[in-house]
Amino acid sequence: MVHLLWLFMLCLLCDGLTYKGVLGLACNWGLQATHPLPPNIVVKLMKDNGFDKVKLFEADPGALNALGNSGIEVMVGIPNDFLASLASSVTFAESWVQQNVSYYISNHGVDIRHVAVGNEPFLKTYNGTFLQTTFPALQNIQAALIKAGLGQQVKVTIPLNADVYQSDSGLPSGGNFRSDIHDLMISIVKFLDNNGAPLTVNIYPFISLYSDPNFPVEYAFFNTTSTQIVDGTITYTNVFEANYDTLISALDKNGYSSMPVIVGEVGWPTDGDSHANIANAKRFNQGLLDRIIEGQGTPKRSTPPDIYLFGLIDEDQKSIQPGNFERHWGIFYYDGSIKYSLDLGNGTALVGAKGVKYLSRQWCIMSPEASILDPSLVNSINYACTYADCTSLGYGSSCSMLDARNNISYAFNMYYQTMDQRQGACSFSNLSVITNVDPSQDTCRFEVMIDLGSTPSPSSARRKQNSMVALILVALLLVICNVY
Ligand SMILES: *[C@@H]1O[C@H](CO)[C@@H](O)[C@H](O)[C@H]1NC(C)=O
Ligand SMILES: *[C@@H]1O[C@H](CO)[C@@H](O)[C@H](O)[C@H]1NC(C)=O
Ligand SMILES: *[C@@H]1O[C@H](CO)[C@@H](O)[C@H](O)[C@H]1NC(C)=O
Ligand SMILES: *[C@@H]1O[C@H](CO)[C@@H](O)[C@H](O)[C@H]1NC(C)=O
Ligand SMILES: *[C@@H]1O[C@H](CO)[C@@H](O)[C@H](O)[C@H]1NC(C)=O
Ligand SMILES: *[C@@H]1O[C@H](CO)[C@@H](O)[C@H](O)[C@H]1NC(C)=O
Repeated sequence: MVHLLWLFMLCLLCDGLTYKGVLGLACNWGLQATHPLPPNIVVKLMKDNGFDKVKLFEADPGALNALGNSGIEVMVGIPNDFLASLASSVTFAESWVQQNVSYYISNHGVDIRHVAVGNEPFLKTYNGTFLQTTFPALQNIQAALIKAGLGQQVKVTIPLNADVYQSDSGLPSGGNFRSDIHDLMISIVKFLDNNGAPLTVNIYPFISLYSDPNFPVEYAFFNTTSTQIVDGTITYTNVFEANYDTLISALDKNGYSSMPVIVGEVGWPTDGDSHANIANAKRFNQGLLDRIIEGQGTPKRSTPPDIYLFGLIDEDQKSIQPGNFERHWGIFYYDGSIKYSLDLGNGTALVGAKGVKYLSRQWCIMSPEASILDPSLVNSINYACTYADCTSLGYGSSCSMLDARNNISYAFNMYYQTMDQRQGACSFSNLSVITNVDPSQDTCRFEVMIDLGSTPSPSSARRKQNSMVALILVALLLVICNVY
């Protein structure tokens, strides 16, 4: 074990030599996937690409262990389900901090800098569910951090959706907090300010475009001069800046003009909608990266915020209630492979995940003998798409051009791969067969699932993954240390 640790540290050192671009990128690492990439591979992926800050949506043990001694700063999230308990019990808040923050800092060398209390708790669509509990939960977590001796090191925040502010004039200068939560927002901002903590906001130009058919497409991107909003002496050429400055105006107006702000999520999906494609995502994210690399602020605030990209990797189990695009926000596919090239500054190109293991190169497709009119097809497809992700088949998506037969094959294959190519997972009433010929065509990729070392049931997947950590470490070591 001692040797292993030694080798691991050596490799951390040689890791440091791989990245040559501009450091200081931040991203979100979500885990709502049937087959989350092994945490060590993800941490290596982040380091290889210059990410030195990460935001987690929950205090996931696998992710936190892997982040130990990595040099990556961590924002640990607390899901909204916890807010009521945290609000009603200081003791629970203390035990939460003890078990999910103090423990990882002291025992695993995790560089936790922020605790994100709740996730967009004031979103209008939640109908006020978390209005009473969020602020008390924030206060209890802050008290617990101070009690744990982490008051200086770890700051609290609440990732808020940009719908907590608005502008009656439609211009950024008219920005103020939403009227139904105005006083609550001021109390929260005051509390954060008193504790030297930042305000976190998620800004989504893609959603602006997606939800408004009249939204000017160019205005969603950065590298345009065509669409402009004139606000007094300021001219806005992109909605990101205008939206961010609406918040800055709200803060200025209420006496918090130096309140630090973090952009907790921003990004562009590659599938699941006609605006969600590789070209648009590349254009948006490259524009965003260029700003980050240049340290560009906005007209109303010259100091740039920390910006956490959403997201690092696709998550095939995210709710698609907001839209099919939800499962395609990753800069990387589910397996850590590259979707499109990005310049990370200094001409440094994005690199994909290393050491990923795959299942056999085989796919489940509709049997050539089966009839397209077979009455059991409908149930089979419904079944497949209930348990697997078929969002790439929808209108305007990467597989929408498939003919009926290939469409069905796609659904069958997604189920087969999601079930780890398990025996019996490609037997839809005898309508399917296994093939060794990759059925992918044009933009439509027929996946081969990553091999997590077993056929995990959803609940045992994570435990299994933990026990894989040592094995993967050794594999990584062999690969890395051979290279250098
Ligand atoms: C670009 O890379 C060079 C050499 O690796 C480094 O010295 C320089 O600081 C980098 N520039 C920026 C802006 O990070
Ligand atoms: C954090 O700590 C609490 C105990 O206070 C525990 O119930 C919870 O499951 C832990 N883990 C996460 C991910 O929050
Ligand atoms: C909010 O209210 C709307 C309309 O009453 C309802 O359809 C929706 O399910 C509610 N959402 C939540 C999270 O309670
Ligand atoms: C902006 O990006 C698009 C898409 O990548 C490209 O076609 C266009 O030339 C770019 N415009 C500018 C001004 O850089
Ligand atoms: C393919 O499948 C999707 C989703 O199951 C469906 O909406 C679409 O109409 C299908 N297209 C064809 C050509 O069968
Ligand atoms: C599948 O085919 C086999 C052999 O032809 C047959 O015995 C079986 O009943 C079929 N199963 C279904 C569900 O149609």
